Amino acid sequence: MNYADIINVTESSVLFSYELENAGFAVLSVEGTEYKSVEATGTGRFEITGLEPLHAYHAELSGVSLDFTTLPAPEGKELGRFALISDPHVSLKDENRKGRFFIESAAIMREALENAADLGAEFAVVPGDVTNEGTAEEYDYCKKLLDNSPIPLHLIPGNHDYPERGYWEKCFGLRHWVMQKYGYTWIAVDTSSGQLPDEDADLIRAHIEKGEKLIICTHYHFFEPPRINHKSVLGIRNAAAHQELLELLKKNRVMIYAGHQNVCSCAVFGKTTQLNLPQPPQFPCEWILVRVFANGFYHQAIPVNSEVWRQWSRNSGNAAAEFYNERQWRGEYRLQSFDQSNFIWEEKK
Ligand SMILES: [Fe+2]
Repeated sequence: MNYADIINVTESSVLFSYELENAGFAVLSVEGTEYKSVEATGTGRFEITGLEPLHAYHAELSGVSLDFTTLPAPEGKELGRFALISDPHVSLKDENRKGRFFIESAAIMREALENAADLGAEFAVVPGDVTNEGTAEEYDYCKKLLDNSPIPLHLIPGNHDYPERGYWEKCFGLRHWVMQKYGYTWIAVDTSSGQLPDEDADLIRAHIEKGEKLIICTHYHFFEPPRINHKSVLGIRNAAAHQELLELLKKNRVMIYAGHQNVCSCAVFGKTTQLNLPQPPQFPCEWILVRVFANGFYHQAIPVNSEVWRQWSRNSGNAAAEFYNERQWRGEYRLQSFDQSNFIWEEKK
């Protein structure tokens, strides 16, 4: 076995993935029930449904032990659902790099949007690095793709989008915005320069002081995530200047959805939760579906359709980590544990 892991867990389902060392059948057992792959191609997935909520399960996938606990049952009826699709890096490059898909980047983004629509997402938030190099040609290419999105998009720029060149406003409109959804005020800030602008910080502060429930969308993270610790970790570079705001955030229950690092990491800072999002074009090749219930936001990682693509990215990233001596490309670092992207952001009681 080269690889066996869990991609996602909900209150009633689990999704496993595997890559066998040699051709053969994959065998999964969950609580005594056995499942076998139909084909002996060596790379694939098992999805098991009908599980009990909040139940600890033991699974064996071709000799690898994988334990998981399903999420608690949601309370009441679903209030809505949305997608978080971070860092698609839609590119015109003709070579892939360090495990990142460039040639396939547009196809991957198109698929993510179609899957989000099929799964019932009302809209998608894309927190930056929508393009890879921010050129006029890339913007044109990306705009054609996004104009055909089956669901509304709420975009904010990242450093790769170079909004200062003027193409962002021309193609996608605002660089920061505020919207109301599910009883929350969503504030998207423009951290594409690496800095949190004072006006965006003031906006966040003003909405907190009005007692509103907040969700912040940003390209660069605000707080240093303990699990993301390679040498070039970057959050907002002017965090020291905004220390008072960061302390205020710690005293309030806020969600921060952040792009850029693309290492799955959910961490709590006082009362605020910050989720560093995975990205579709590089392992773990995922976006996040969020279902909203009275007891909280249920987060679920949705992988690209092809497990072969996902495993190519992992293997190519591992090889690049060795070759360049840059451990941030390693699969085990980029997806440290499925519970970082499959969790409930609980509503305050
Ligand atoms: Fe970035």
